[in-house]
Amino acid sequence: MAQDKFSKVAIYPGTFDPITNGHVDIIKRGSRIFDEIIVLVAYNPDKAALFTVEERMEMIRESLSDIKSVRVDSHSGLLVDYLKLSGASIILRGMRALSDFEYEFQMALMNRRQTREIETVFLLSGFKWFYTSSKLIKEVVSLGGSVKALVPDNVHQKLLEKYNVKPRDNNRR
Ligand code: COA
Repeated sequence: MAQDKFSKVAIYPGTFDPITNGHVDIIKRGSRIFDEIIVLVAYNPDKAALFTVEERMEMIRESLSDIKSVRVDSHSGLLVDYLKLSGASIILRGMRALSDFEYEFQMALMNRRQTREIETVFLLSGFKWFYTSSKLIKEVVSLGGSVKALVPDNVHQKLLEKYNVKPRDNNRR
């Protein structure tokens, strides 16, 4: 579907296995800048996912139900092809630390090499989410630790079910 020529649509791609509060923070802040954000569950060949694409999309939808200007979609091919299909030209990404920079820089340049019109816009991650990642969150839950407040409540529940563990509260926010 082609976008209105004046509306600013950003695609926020990621593996989202699962979505974390760090991602939600980027989406919420991005929604103050863009007219619409499409959260795209994309394919990263380097990652074997714990949750299916459908499960990840469902968790994202539930986590963002209060933000009206957000849509959730999935794509198994090249990101730039999805942008062409949707008529969008902006990729939104979050940057946590300097260590993210090189990878993000490479991806942004590679994407722009495929299609000149594409721009990647970065938002700096909130300091509360600086150290989190989906991998770390899964590891902590699988070993019985607490990640409450690092992920939306629905995601927390799904993680406990997936790993068949009981909730543990460390009283942290
Ligand atoms: N707060 C907390 N954590 C964050 C975060 C934030 N704001 N932003 C990212 N992260 C975490 C993620 O949870 C993820 O953790 P993990 O590595 O433990 O899974 C990590 O930082 C970065 O991953 P993510 O943002 O999910 O992106 P990704 O690196 O998996 O995504 C794609 C890469 C999917 C965008 C990329 O592979 C892609 O574009 N694929 C489509 C195919 C394609 O076009 N390839 C060519 C690309 S040039």
